[in-house]
Amino acid sequence: LFAGETEFVKGVVAMSGLPEADRMEVCFAGRSNVGKSTLINALTGRKGLARASNTPGRTQEINYFTAGDDLYLVDLPGYGYANAPLSVVEKWQRLLKQYLSGRQTLRRAFVLIDGRHGVKQVDEEIMSLLDSAAVTFQCVLTKADKVKEKDRQKVLDVTRAALAKHPAAYPEILLTSSEKGDGIPTLRSIIATLE
Ligand code: GTP
Ligand code: MG
Repeated sequence: LFAGETEFVKGVVAMSGLPEADRMEVCFAGRSNVGKSTLINALTGRKGLARASNTPGRTQEINYFTAGDDLYLVDLPGYGYANAPLSVVEKWQRLLKQYLSGRQTLRRAFVLIDGRHGVKQVDEEIMSLLDSAAVTFQCVLTKADKVKEKDRQKVLDVTRAALAKHPAAYPEILLTSSEKGDGIPTLRSIIATLE
């Protein structure tokens, strides 16, 4: 699924620009800078595919990538703080919400949470939106390489407790490092078995 068959399709700035809903898709949502674009690069094994940077607000469009012929990977703009003008941020936040609640072929949303920081209020809001839209979402704790060994179980437990309030949450939580590769094969196989 991920072996050399990935390519950038388009960047979308309005719902009318979404590609034809002719295959299933999974998306990567999360606060700015949590590591969405980097995770797509790790999954596909192509470092420069999705543009990542240390500046929050790097991804400002809904970016579509193919993974094989039957699946889109969707890189979303971050929510929460972003280093961009407020009017611009508001515009893409609106689009993000429209997308998350209105895309028929969205099969699962991966909600990325920084493993050092845990679930924040803005994450809760997105999770509630996904509950309302009945979109199954799965939490991915990112930057595992920055989480001390002794703190790992705790962040998993706290995240699990937060998910208990959300009917659309898929119970399994992943801990990943795009830097070191932890959890990447697991996430690949989860995506590959969705149908
Ligand atoms: P926006 O597009 O702004 O919403 O951000 P994003 O969620 O796409 O984050 P991005 O992938 O651009 O990564 C943000 C920063 O985190 C970059 O400097 C990445 O190198 C870093 N980063 C991402 N994943 C990891 C990881 O697993 N470990 C470490 N140590 N750094 C990471
Ligand atoms: Mg990004």
